[in-house]
Amino acid sequence: MELKISNALGHSIPDDLFGLFFEDINYAADGGLYAEMLENRGFEFVDVYGEHYDYYTVDAPEYGWSVVNGGRMMFVTGSPVSEVNPHYLRFFADKPGQGFKNKAYAGIYMKAGLPYKVSFWARAAKYWTGDVKVAVMKDGVEITSKVVELIHEERGVWQKWNRYELELTADADVKAGDFSIFLTEAGEVEFDFISMMPGDAVGGVFRKDLFEALKELKPGFIRFPGGCIIEGNTLANRYQWKKSVGRIEDRRSNWNRWAIHEGEAYNQHTPFSHYNQTLGMGYYEYFLLCDLLGAKPLPVLNVGLACQYQSLELIEPEDPMFNEFIQDALDLIEFANGDATTKWGALRASMGHSEPFNLTMMGIGNEQWETPKSRFFERYMAFEKAIHEKYPEMRLIGSAGPDVISDHWTAAWDFINKQAAVNPSAAYAVDEHYYMPPVWFTEHADFYDEYPRDVKVFSGEYAAHPARGTAPGRHHNTTVGALSEAAFLTGVEKNSDVVVLSSYAPLFARKDFTQWAPDMIWFDSESVDRTPSYYVQKMYSCNTATDTIPMDGQEKTFREKNVFISVTYDRNADHRIIKVVNMNDEEFPLTLTIDGVGCGACETCAMAPASVTMEQMTAVDETHAKVETSKVPFTDSFKLPAKSFTIITL
Ligand code: AHR
Repeated sequence: MELKISNALGHSIPDDLFGLFFEDINYAADGGLYAEMLENRGFEFVDVYGEHYDYYTVDAPEYGWSVVNGGRMMFVTGSPVSEVNPHYLRFFADKPGQGFKNKAYAGIYMKAGLPYKVSFWARAAKYWTGDVKVAVMKDGVEITSKVVELIHEERGVWQKWNRYELELTADADVKAGDFSIFLTEAGEVEFDFISMMPGDAVGGVFRKDLFEALKELKPGFIRFPGGCIIEGNTLANRYQWKKSVGRIEDRRSNWNRWAIHEGEAYNQHTPFSHYNQTLGMGYYEYFLLCDLLGAKPLPVLNVGLACQYQSLELIEPEDPMFNEFIQDALDLIEFANGDATTKWGALRASMGHSEPFNLTMMGIGNEQWETPKSRFFERYMAFEKAIHEKYPEMRLIGSAGPDVISDHWTAAWDFINKQAAVNPSAAYAVDEHYYMPPVWFTEHADFYDEYPRDVKVFSGEYAAHPARGTAPGRHHNTTVGALSEAAFLTGVEKNSDVVVLSSYAPLFARKDFTQWAPDMIWFDSESVDRTPSYYVQKMYSCNTATDTIPMDGQEKTFREKNVFISVTYDRNADHRIIKVVNMNDEEFPLTLTIDGVGCGACETCAMAPASVTMEQMTAVDETHAKVETSKVPFTDSFKLPAKSFTIITL
């Protein structure tokens, strides 16, 4: 079938169209991108119980820790390192060599030769001369260790907390090892904030292989920190950015909303009931991640509503406490952009970033929708007024609710369009979420063709779900699902004068620690598994262009043949980029007729480029895909394999 490519340019394409949505779900932060290897390092975890309208937590400072060779652990409060995190471990050894170890998610993984940085706070409570040995053990055998000399005050003098640091290195790779600490003598020692980080953590914070996987995607922006975790099951465990910055020891550990995931299989008390957030990866680190990846930050704020799926808890807009939520938004802008003479700018500078983080856009509410009780629209307007009074340039993003097929979505657009008619900057964009079957994505490649153009769209959470629901399992990441996302994205790119930001969701899943699937990247302690959806995202975000080339309705004829096309032009490289998804079970022949490119002998005909670059994703099996890149001599005829996504650059 022939595709005619004209020389006319359409609209320009935003350079941050393809970005990332990061939420601490599926152990994406603690146990994931945050490189901390130990679990419950500060003895502050809680065990979470509850359902819809009734949540409660039980202190579980012992979670993840157990004794080795005898001795006794007590989890106490009294004189903590930080009042914000009051629990700590008091270890009683009645003879030398007794100690304790950490679960470390699925155990300690060490790469041969790489130094690992260990730190901990200790107080030699009743321990007059002994030291401690820090070791990684495997099946009771010591792999690597260091003895740390503890600081002892004289007997009868108050023993102080001191922070200790050391490095451990293993000669060979270690899998599922035990991080352990032993006392060299009998006595009582207190410990807190015990940490082990790989020496190659990017910025000292991010797990290198996961960071690299994100870097390869060249994201234009990052939406963070959620997702439902910004709302919380109750307002008590909502994400509060101010509690996530400053000294690590002073960041209040918080239970994770994904410790409880509503549904038949997950209710009341789940296998992930100890899913907590240390906030070691807090707002400063999120901004840092954006900085390191060259992505624009897009934080999303709580508007006084707990997760509308999980809870009815809220703060009424009339309640004076509601102003605190607005103040948090204003202060966040100061934290990101203010100079060191401002209160929050000074905190950012003291944490190591004197330059601003260039915050230009914010999400007001996550996945909120209007009800007589939630009054989301009123909340949005209160935030908008306060933020734009002080920061008129800030781009604010509203919410269309949890889908694009219900009355919530229509109501949200009606509201926003009315506001925009009076005040065009009331909303820069509306955040739309859709988790739908693959066929929905192919059938809706034209979804944005007729959208009004005034207020922009942030396609903030989407993924093809081959099965209903969100039951975990890597097998839900199918190649066909990913191809349907690629097909849909041809429509997003074509309509990028209205869809200005887009991000797949969720981003990460730790194998065996997963509440929701499909996900873009799966991982365990030692490896990273890039799904077909990952490759689709990468192919789009690494083949961006500056302008669309209108297809003048040809795309509709192709769609009828189950083939999806986007044609763009990149001024920087002087390239045409043609993205084609063949959803058919057979090969599809495509011929390009490019205006003004041909023999090179006549006045209107330029010489065809010498070569064409092809990047092609095809299935390896139902859930895995491969991407191959080749450069071939110029041709205008292509045979697109069955179930494939091809990018032709010429
Ligand atoms: O991406 C998973 C969840 O889906 C997000 O937390 C929420 O915004 C949506 O319901």
